Amino acid sequence: MLKIIGASCVFKCDQDFSILQDGGVLFECDPHSSSNQILKIQDFATLTQEYPHLQATFYSDCVLLPAFSNAHIHFEFSNNQSHLLYGDFPTWLSSVIAHREELFENLTQGIQREINLQLASGISSVGAISSYGYDIDPLAQSPLRVTLFNEAIGSNPQALDFLYQNLLERFEKCKILKNHKFSPALAIHSPYSTHYVLSKKVALLAQSESVKLSCHFLESKEEKQWLYEKNGWFQEFFSHFFKVANAKPTMNAHEFLDLLSNLSPLFVHCLFADDAIFDKISQINGSVICAPRSNRLLNGCYLDLDRLTHVKLAPIFSTDGLSSNYSLNLIEEIRSAFFGYAHLDAEKLAKNLLLGITRFPAIALGNNNGELKEGKDADLAIFPCCGIQTSQQKPLHFVLYAQTQVKDLYINGIGEYTWKQ
Ligand code: BEZ
Ligand code: FE2
Repeated sequence: MLKIIGASCVFKCDQDFSILQDGGVLFECDPHSSSNQILKIQDFATLTQEYPHLQATFYSDCVLLPAFSNAHIHFEFSNNQSHLLYGDFPTWLSSVIAHREELFENLTQGIQREINLQLASGISSVGAISSYGYDIDPLAQSPLRVTLFNEAIGSNPQALDFLYQNLLERFEKCKILKNHKFSPALAIHSPYSTHYVLSKKVALLAQSESVKLSCHFLESKEEKQWLYEKNGWFQEFFSHFFKVANAKPTMNAHEFLDLLSNLSPLFVHCLFADDAIFDKISQINGSVICAPRSNRLLNGCYLDLDRLTHVKLAPIFSTDGLSSNYSLNLIEEIRSAFFGYAHLDAEKLAKNLLLGITRFPAIALGNNNGELKEGKDADLAIFPCCGIQTSQQKPLHFVLYAQTQVKDLYINGIGEYTWKQ
């Protein structure tokens, strides 16, 4: 079964950001196939002449592009609205510990709402950080393409065996649910919160199971001081919340990277990473994921993207969870980022923001999507964007004017969301 769709403007999201006017995509749409792929990208008129018997839809005043990937999101924090405190990292982390229990009450509805919002925002793929496993079933049952990062966290040496067993149980459950759209994976919360021994076990497990691994890394200046100087606010934190007098980190930043060196890991935030760290991340084939609005709320700054480009790392943009954001819509996220990075060339930034939610996260997650190209999975999004046809700055105008709700979304060639007015 084949289908053609076309639009006034097609963003291929290849390395050069090629754009096709009045373009069309021919793709497979067999409801029983686990791999419906893009077969051809061409001028819409030529394509429909070549395949006159196929169903073909053209979207005027719209952009057709690869469906988005939100590579770092916490569905389990979907209940937060005003529980958590923003402004600096210590205030925020203390508020998370204080409100942990109440945030997880009646969670199912909140998780479902945010799954629906991902689909409505044109997102086909998510990298979901799962701390407790509450999101596993709703995500496995959703139409989304999911990389489910089962997360390990814990610094108490006495609790490590229990914590690892708990992680294994969640991971095994995910292995049973594994299919073409649901990939089990692992996460280490961060080097400040996860004991070296537990981190190492998780890294070895990721290697032996050949799954993706994600971690928060160097998110705050307090974390940097803790990992590099072994003192500062985290010492008080461990004494106050965990009653550990004179606590010390169980590894430094480079020892953490060494643990992950053959896993092509995903590093989230890296706001306080120095050039030596970025060099090493690049050498071990890691990727860096930004969450600009989360960074603004918790740490009052954005990652310097030039430092990434310098070591040939491609920036990836994600929303993080509602624990550090007010909306998990990715177009809104990159629109905010566009205004946050005021010093960068506007047209170049717009292209990078779009590649950072399509092409680059697909590579980091190991998905065969994120680009419109023959042989890629048919994960496609169509967004209304008035005036795009005549625009001389299409990527920039898309970032500014695209509707934040998708018109139609295809995942694996199947229509999974249609916006009805
Ligand atoms: C812990 O569970 O040990 C932990 C949690 C959050 C931050 C730091 C440590
Ligand atoms: Fe996060």
